[in-house]
Amino acid sequence: MIWIRLSTLFSTFFIALLKAARHNAEVGCQLPERWSGAWFQSGVRQPIVIDRTRISNKGRCFTNDGDKFHMFDDKSMCYRCVVIHEKHENVLQYKETFCVHTRDSLHSLCQLITGDALLFSMFREEGVAVPCPFRGGHTFTYNRGHGECRYPLSTIDSCTHESRLLFQYHACPDVHATESAVEELQCLATWKEGSLRYLVGKVHHSHATSNEERFRCFVWEKVTANDADQLIDEGSRPRSPDDVSADYRVAQSGDATCNGLFSPLEGSKTMTLKKAPATSKCRYPPWLTTSTHWHTLDYSRTYLFHHRNTTLHIANTTNSNSDGGGAATLGNTAAQQLTAAHAQSLMDGQQDIRLVCTELKAVSTEVAQLVGHYTMGCQNGFMCMMFYKRDSHVIELQTGTPTKRLEEACTSAYFDRSSAPYITLVTTNPEQRKCPHFGRYSVSGVTRRDQRRARSHEIQSHPIDLIGTLSHGYANQNYRRSAGSRNLQSFGDDDDGCSLDLKTLVVGCSASDTMEFRSDCDNSPDKPRVTSVYQCHGGWVENGTHYLITTPLSRSSRGARRYCFAYEATGGSSASVGLGPPAGASVIRFSTSSNTCTRDSASTAAGASNVLAFNITNQGQCTETSSSTRLEPSALLHLTALLQFLLVMHFANLRLHSPLISHSRIPVR
Ligand SMILES: *[C@@H]1O[C@H](CO)[C@@H](O)[C@H](O)[C@H]1NC(C)=O
Ligand SMILES: *[C@@H]1O[C@H](CO)[C@@H](O)[C@H](O)[C@H]1NC(C)=O
Ligand SMILES: *[C@@H]1O[C@H](CO)[C@@H](O)[C@H](O)[C@H]1NC(C)=O
Ligand SMILES: *[C@@H]1O[C@H](CO)[C@@H](O)[C@H](O)[C@H]1NC(C)=O
Repeated sequence: MIWIRLSTLFSTFFIALLKAARHNAEVGCQLPERWSGAWFQSGVRQPIVIDRTRISNKGRCFTNDGDKFHMFDDKSMCYRCVVIHEKHENVLQYKETFCVHTRDSLHSLCQLITGDALLFSMFREEGVAVPCPFRGGHTFTYNRGHGECRYPLSTIDSCTHESRLLFQYHACPDVHATESAVEELQCLATWKEGSLRYLVGKVHHSHATSNEERFRCFVWEKVTANDADQLIDEGSRPRSPDDVSADYRVAQSGDATCNGLFSPLEGSKTMTLKKAPATSKCRYPPWLTTSTHWHTLDYSRTYLFHHRNTTLHIANTTNSNSDGGGAATLGNTAAQQLTAAHAQSLMDGQQDIRLVCTELKAVSTEVAQLVGHYTMGCQNGFMCMMFYKRDSHVIELQTGTPTKRLEEACTSAYFDRSSAPYITLVTTNPEQRKCPHFGRYSVSGVTRRDQRRARSHEIQSHPIDLIGTLSHGYANQNYRRSAGSRNLQSFGDDDDGCSLDLKTLVVGCSASDTMEFRSDCDNSPDKPRVTSVYQCHGGWVENGTHYLITTPLSRSSRGARRYCFAYEATGGSSASVGLGPPAGASVIRFSTSSNTCTRDSASTAAGASNVLAFNITNQGQCTETSSSTRLEPSALLHLTALLQFLLVMHFANLRLHSPLISHSRIPVR
């Protein structure tokens, strides 16, 4: 009696335990988290959404055994076994049973899947791209089932980003169904099955507008010389000797599945790839590659030499404030049709550019002309490049119009030195140099490019980044609110234009490597306001115009911006150009173009890209005071030091001017 009750109790308990176990199993069927997301399957209209427990078009998973999943379709109230193989994080393949209304064990249900059951492929909709196989340039022949299209050869070009390839198909007049077309392939997954290698990618071309038209599956093999011999022995097809040197054989699916791709010799389209003859490479001249990183004056773009000095990579600067960084973004690049526009727009562009040195035309210690092979997005070609060494830490670059043919890149049709714009580049940490032309100058006839902007200046006693303020139209209001409220009270709320009322330019007086602009109007007449200060780096003279690279020294300067000052002595005192302070009146131009020292003619002082232009007149050396300027107390302390500066002044000028390049002396062509 007791025994019986005990056993019933036990069996009840046992059944409860079983139920709990089954319940756990149901809850415990979880799909791998990395499968979560939206997937595409050919023939399925809506994206298939997978989360931890459901596949949107299969239902809920309630039990699984390895890669076998028992799915309950809650719409049709039926069960099916789905066997899912993860080929790549972006590709799932599965086989499944019909949906049955009886609930069999997972094992017996899955046995209904026969060997020849359809294999379905799902491709992740927003998958992260992967590096493509067969990188580098290739030529190829292709066959869409109507014969091999061999002449002319089609080509595959690599793109700046390693996950993209550009296929250029050519039409063969003698082969039906061949046509000229350009297709860009974005590689999304690669995997290996036995001896076969698979690739899934999205093909982008003008007619592909849906995922159904874009996703394609490829099977490929690399063919070494020995393999090729074996293949000939196996000989399922006659082969021409050309095939023996083939690098890859590739078959492409005709739809957005991997169905029927069992060999690289069969497919909707088959291709035979051969490595394109390597373009010859040269090294960029040593005076360019002594610094691996170069920056535009505004630090927006970084020029990086790498691959044993054969390659120049141009990219956005990641951190524009970083003085020591300069690491370049090698980000994704969308393919854009390269317009016939001038290369300047290409260089100013938003995209990464890779430029491989291909042919040195003329190289001296200060000038180099060469042909570079450029790749931008998936476009490529050749362009003429001219580098000028302006100082050990300043170079300039001119580029020609892109062309497909190396031979014509540096011809006058594609490159005109007299009109090609310059891009000025500086190293990450340019050396400080003594400023040229020490002394005091009075400033007159200040003209501004933009009066409206010129009014928005900062009223405060710290030096401002005058050019930056003018050219970038800083949010001065914020500055005032945060830091300038004290000053606002003492100066009143008027835009008195004081900061722009430049009266004096002082070069090399407070410190040998700085230039100061001062204005007279202030609340304290004894202390001329230092409006803005610039630190001097290298410079050069070109055709009578002096160019000087500077860094603004002020609290409001953002980033590591540089400016180019251009100035030129006017009037009959041309003899003074070169050594010593410019005598008499000089026109100073500020070039504030974001990436270059502009070559606007000095006579049109307020040239389009200049923010400020004015004349300066020499008022003597640092030590002399004039009626219109007073020395700051701190400057008085420097008086003894200034005598020494005067002694080094000529030396400074010599250093600045000795490595000058005059255009007419460049030994090119
Ligand atoms: C690249 O150029 C720099 C400077 O000329 C040189 O020191 C370096 O050895 C070069 N690198 C290679 C791999 O030639
Ligand atoms: C470069 O920067 C610009 C904006 O400064 C941005 O629009 C562009 O996408 C960037 N390009 C790359 C390749 O990161
Ligand atoms: C500079 O001086 C020249 C002649 O001395 C004059 O023609 C020119 O207008 C002046 N420029 C400015 C900006 O004042
Ligand atoms: C130098 O200036 C003169 C006069 O403005 C001009 O004719 C000449 O083309 C310039 N030379 C160069 C190399 O810019």
